[in-house]
This record gives sequence, structure tokens and C-alpha cells, in this order.
Amino acid sequence: MITHQNVLKDSAQYGTGDASYRAAGGREGIRQLVDRFYDYMEALPQARRILHMHPDDLSESRDKLARFLCGWLGGPKLYNEKYGPIRIPAAHIHLEIGEAERDAWLLCMEKAVGDQPYSPAFRDYLLRQLFIPAERIRVVGTARREKQHRDTDCAGN
Ligand code: HEM
Repeated sequence: MITHQNVLKDSAQYGTGDASYRAAGGREGIRQLVDRFYDYMEALPQARRILHMHPDDLSESRDKLARFLCGWLGGPKLYNEKYGPIRIPAAHIHLEIGEAERDAWLLCMEKAVGDQPYSPAFRDYLLRQLFIPAERIRVVGTARREKQHRDTDCAGN
């Protein structure tokens, strides 16, 4: 039976060890999640702008995100194994990501997560956790662009 108490207990476990990785179905489950995520990005009109920020062939993007999420969820560090170290805000600094782009990305994730055989508690936990790096990407990128504008304005004076 799903009770409020159980939901709280489950959510508390997810951040520990590889609990989230296992709840997401391990490498195979995460690959399925990422495949759905990019399918939605290709299909949803709200995601057109962020889709066009990607290379035409999404195979490497699918591989990179799936590998990254394995490690991020407490499983094996598959991204680092193949592609080396990564910092998520820095990896997006060349892209113009504001609230609309952040929300489009999260919408694709919300839909993809909804298609997985996850418990409601894990779905909720995962989406709340994903908001954190998505928002960080927006904040760091916006601050960088504002600084560039200020520097350009000063240079022009
Ligand atoms: C905030 C909304 C986001 C947008 C619009 C976005 C968009 C993109 C785009 C366009 C790329 C491909 C970049 C390129 O090939 O030049 C990319 C790469 C990537 N993204 Fe995101 N992303 C977002 C959030 C996230 C989040 C929250 C994560 C992790 C939880 C993430 C993980 C990655 C990874 C691992 C790569 C591969 C980076 C690389 O190897 O260069 N992204 N993203």
C-alpha cells in the first residue's frame, strides 16, 4: 500500500549509494529513459529550439546522457570512462539556455520518466533532482552572458 510514510521512507533512500541507479533500472533502464527523452525532444514543438542546439545525429548525445545519468544516479561512472571528466554547467556554457529552454528540457524528461515503470515516489524524486542541474545550467549561463554584455558595453565606452 502506498502511504505518505512509505513515500517519505522511499525518497529518503534514493540519494544513498546506488539506490537511485537501481530504481531507474540500471544501465538498461536508464538507456530506455534517455531514448524516450530524445524521442520526445524530436516530437514536441516546445522542444524545437533545444533540439536544434544538438547535432543532427543524436546517437552520441543519447550515449553521453545515458552514461552520465548512470554515474549521477550513483551507478558506474560510464561517462568518465569513455569521454573523460565533465562539469555540467561548463558543458552547456556555449548554449543560450533560459527558462524556456530549461523547461522544455524538463518537459521531455517528465514525459520520458512518466513512460517508465517507476514508482510514483521515484518519478517525483528524479524530476525534483533533475531540476537542480537544469536550473544551475540556466543560472551559470545567464550570469556569463550578462558579464559578457557588461564587458562589451564597458569596452564600447
Ligand atoms: C537545462 C536544459 C538543458 C538543455 C537545453 C541541454 C542541452 C544540451 C545540448 C544542446 C547538448 C549537446 C551539446 C553539443 O553537442 O554541443 C547537451 C549535452 C549534454 N547534456 Fe544537456 N541540456 C540541458 C540540461 C542537462 C542536464 C540537467 C543534464 C544532466 C543531468 C545534462 C547532461 C548533458 C550531458 C552529459 C551532455 C553531453 C556533454 C558533452 O559531452 O559535451 N543536460 N545538452
